[in-house]
Amino acid sequence: MGLLQTILGGVKVTDILIGLLSIIIIYVIHFYYKYFTRINPFPGPIPIPLIGSVAIFIEDIDAWFYRLNKKYGRDGIFELNIAGNRQIVLTRAEYIDKFLLKDSSTHVMRTANNGLLDLFDLETKGVGLNHSYKHWKFNRHIFTQAIMPLALTNKPSEILNQLFVEMAQYWIDLKQPDSDGTVTDIAIWMRRFTTDFISLLTTSKKFSALYYYSQKIKNEPITQEMIDSEEFVENINTFVSDNQILFVPKLLRNMPFIKPRVNKLLDNCHRFYDRLVDIVKAKRKEIDEIVKNGGELDTKRADLLTSLIIANTQYDPHPQKNVDPSLSRPMNDDEIRGVMFDAFVAGTDTTVNTFCFAIYYLSHHPEVKKKLFEEIDTVFPDDPNKPIMLEDLEKLKYVEAIIKETSRIRPTVSMVSRFSNQPDEIAGHKWPSDQLFIMYVRGINNNPIYWKDPEKFMPERFLKSQEIHKNSFSMFGGGSRMCLGRKIAIIELKTLLTALYRKFDVELIDMNAPLEVETSTITVCKGLDIKLIPRERKQPMTRRISRSRN
Ligand code: HEM
Repeated sequence: MGLLQTILGGVKVTDILIGLLSIIIIYVIHFYYKYFTRINPFPGPIPIPLIGSVAIFIEDIDAWFYRLNKKYGRDGIFELNIAGNRQIVLTRAEYIDKFLLKDSSTHVMRTANNGLLDLFDLETKGVGLNHSYKHWKFNRHIFTQAIMPLALTNKPSEILNQLFVEMAQYWIDLKQPDSDGTVTDIAIWMRRFTTDFISLLTTSKKFSALYYYSQKIKNEPITQEMIDSEEFVENINTFVSDNQILFVPKLLRNMPFIKPRVNKLLDNCHRFYDRLVDIVKAKRKEIDEIVKNGGELDTKRADLLTSLIIANTQYDPHPQKNVDPSLSRPMNDDEIRGVMFDAFVAGTDTTVNTFCFAIYYLSHHPEVKKKLFEEIDTVFPDDPNKPIMLEDLEKLKYVEAIIKETSRIRPTVSMVSRFSNQPDEIAGHKWPSDQLFIMYVRGINNNPIYWKDPEKFMPERFLKSQEIHKNSFSMFGGGSRMCLGRKIAIIELKTLLTALYRKFDVELIDMNAPLEVETSTITVCKGLDIKLIPRERKQPMTRRISRSRN
């Protein structure tokens, strides 16, 4: 102690400053030495030590990527640095082949695990952000078994039709007598629609999110149940808008401009998780009661949550034979909560944004909208209120082409990452382990090598699918981590687009306004003001003739 005191007693403030400055200079020299001698150098912005690129803090990340791709992406590969992590960005379909191999057991991880996943209790939970191979594999297996059969039934269609009728009625009620249509922000409605939809699909119980919003606009009384639903929508929204913070390196967590964001998101997640735990417990109780009272579980039409609860129990309608023993146990409540979190987070905003972008592009392309009306009126010639079922969706080829073309030109998930934790060969180069690769979906989807006039909105491209270059369009990612909700998402988007344009003509309020977006891990539509004008459909010829004869 005495010696330490003597040493410290002789230290001056200037010595400390010189010491600190020397450390910083050594760090900076080391950083740039490593940068300029890096393996496989590719073009990209020169990084700033510790931070990487400042653009990430001041510019929308998707807009930034788009700009960098134009500047550096000519050869289909460029690099950037975010918070000290080197990222290799790929914009050629050929370069991402390896990541999209079906059932690839190598490229499974999406990110390095040096961020805050454990703080948010997501490191071993759910599917989308799970970083433990063992837990991810188990959760994905059970989630797949529960969600895929649902997409083959009419259950999603029934729910979608029911909710659309409700929402359309609210819109009609809101129409002012002196106007030819209802003016509203469609993004707000869709966020509530998709929450009600996923809730009904997963639990058979509806939130009151749509009802809440209609009551709020009309200044009508609001119940506690509606407030709870709205809070749930906000929980999802907050997480979707700021989840990039999960990938901030642990070291930076307490920095002044990061700490409040982390704490806000953490607080949001705790409230979100508590709600989900209550939902899981209530469903388990409901199932237990049915069984206790000698009732029979309707396992064929079970909602997703029921399927998750009964998976690998005696009530499982599809017991798995010859399956890896680590996958054949039931899930506990904590695991189910993790998967339910994914269903709400991954299953709501993705659809909302794709839907809003489709409306935007349709409004700017009247020739496409005309063809859309023609297809809808051909498939539903007589009854414009007929529920839209799976067999109808089969016939709506142009509707599907519109959804794909929207996702090509403006994907809501514009970046999909893979983390190689072993030496790898990608884009014709050898890479050491621990390298992050970004498949820049928007760049590939709009690359003129694969797409003629890529900036033009032309759904017709997707009517000739045989002409589409392999991996030049990916809406749902691929390989072992491909989107689990892809079938439900297509059913949802096709049904919604058809139901909307069957009943209404849709106009943008401001044709000159660009799309208002903000990107976290997905590109979110911040708002889209539209006018919904009820459509006067022409009576089909046959019906007019038979009426006039009577
Ligand atoms: C238009 C709507 C949607 C789009 C564009 C979309 C897109 C994507 C993409 C690009 C991925 C990453 C795939 C990869 O890494 O290769 C993903 C993952 C995922 N999606 Fe979707 N998705 C949509 C809707 C849904 C829905 C409705 C659900 C569930 C109800 C869902 C559940 C998931 C899950 C659980 C994952 C994580 C899979 C894993 O990590 O293993 N998605 N989605």
